[in-house]
Amino acid sequence: MESHKVLIIGSGGRENALAWKISQSRFCEKLFIAPGNAGTSFLGENVEISVSDFVSIRDLILYNKISIVIVGPEDPLVNGLHDFLINEIKNDNLIVIGPKKNGAALEGSKEFAKEFMFRHKIPTARYRTFNKKNIHEANIFLNSLKPPYVLKADGLAAGKGVLILTNLNEAKTTLENMILKKKFGQASERVVIEEYLKGIEVSSFVLTDGDTYKIFPMAKDYKRIGVGDTGLNTGGMGAISPVPFVDQKLYQKIENQVIRPTINGLKKDKIDYTGFLFIGLMIVENEPYVIEYNVRLGDPETEAILPRIESDLLEIFLQLKSSQLQTSNLKVSDLFSSTVMTVSKGYPEKYEKGKIINGLDSKNESFLFHSGTKKESQNIVTSGGRVIAVTSMDKLLNKALEKSYKTISKIEFEGKTFRNDIGFDL
Ligand code: AMP
Ligand code: GLY
Repeated sequence: MESHKVLIIGSGGRENALAWKISQSRFCEKLFIAPGNAGTSFLGENVEISVSDFVSIRDLILYNKISIVIVGPEDPLVNGLHDFLINEIKNDNLIVIGPKKNGAALEGSKEFAKEFMFRHKIPTARYRTFNKKNIHEANIFLNSLKPPYVLKADGLAAGKGVLILTNLNEAKTTLENMILKKKFGQASERVVIEEYLKGIEVSSFVLTDGDTYKIFPMAKDYKRIGVGDTGLNTGGMGAISPVPFVDQKLYQKIENQVIRPTINGLKKDKIDYTGFLFIGLMIVENEPYVIEYNVRLGDPETEAILPRIESDLLEIFLQLKSSQLQTSNLKVSDLFSSTVMTVSKGYPEKYEKGKIINGLDSKNESFLFHSGTKKESQNIVTSGGRVIAVTSMDKLLNKALEKSYKTISKIEFEGKTFRNDIGFDL
């Protein structure tokens, strides 16, 4: 195989972890990241292009003869970046990791995803969709459910579109706010109401060419800001992989009842899909149910799972393109990986940026993946809510966590905040 010029789209910890992994590939001739962050600037060339500027992305690819594009976040995929690049570049050798618009709808529309799951008999919560026209029927459906009530804006709402309410009247008012007052803009013109599933969440990841698939390591994400899983939802405060309670039997159920029917569903629906599919699962009494599909890798799950991948990831992407995914060899370390996210004070609400980060080059036993950082003269400063993800590995989960916390104690910036209980429930 020849070497390639690669472009990673995005600017978070996930993209830093991808850049770290891809830059080690013997097939990587040159790596670009658009727009990237301070962390990715040490691994490749950051290019100041926004993930929504499709024309500039196209020009960058053409000018530099880039042959592989890895799309980190969902937004450009849902808005058709893959389709745009294929139509504009007309090069059969171009590989885009990330689905076209019709596949990305699995994340872009909750209603589409629910219809897909029901059509292909994939276990998920009972639901109905409401809009302006049938909102008067919503009360009857809500009355038929037991609390809490799960209301989901149909479209993308920057991870804020899911509301879980314990009170029936509050649920009814919230539904009106979403549909009639457009609480989440166009995204909540349609709202999926679904049955609440009580269980424990697992993030599963599959790489597929739409025909065959490879299961990547599963992870557990810690979404709430506060210790003991309390407080507001965030993008994710930490992750661990593998997930100790996913034993062989549960793993098989996940593959047989969820993953295989999903990939077969894509085929039946003629959705040609290349890229990662992140299946958010709720395990209820040892049975997997799909909470949501995401058409990308998770963040911070990526920071936890990629260090466990021993194979050359770029080689696997190349094998995917040449229909050899099934026979490619995905080698995964059996060490535990623990990722703890450091965030800015105030996150996920208002927070300040521009705080100088010190201690990044202190001696440690961890991988540091930048989430929201940038270079400013001689310094690296905070530029986002999530700042640095710290990943460590060990035979024992506790030891892996210990290493991450030890490294975090050496990283300094004003307002540094993190959860000191990642993995507490395991
Ligand atoms: P999402 O924004 O789709 O990731 O959803 C946010 C969170 O809401 C999920 O991670 C779950 O914790 C929770 N959630 C979503 N759907 C359900 C459901 N049907 N039952 C229980 N919790 C849910
Ligand atoms: N960590 C959850 C997500 O990436 O959506």
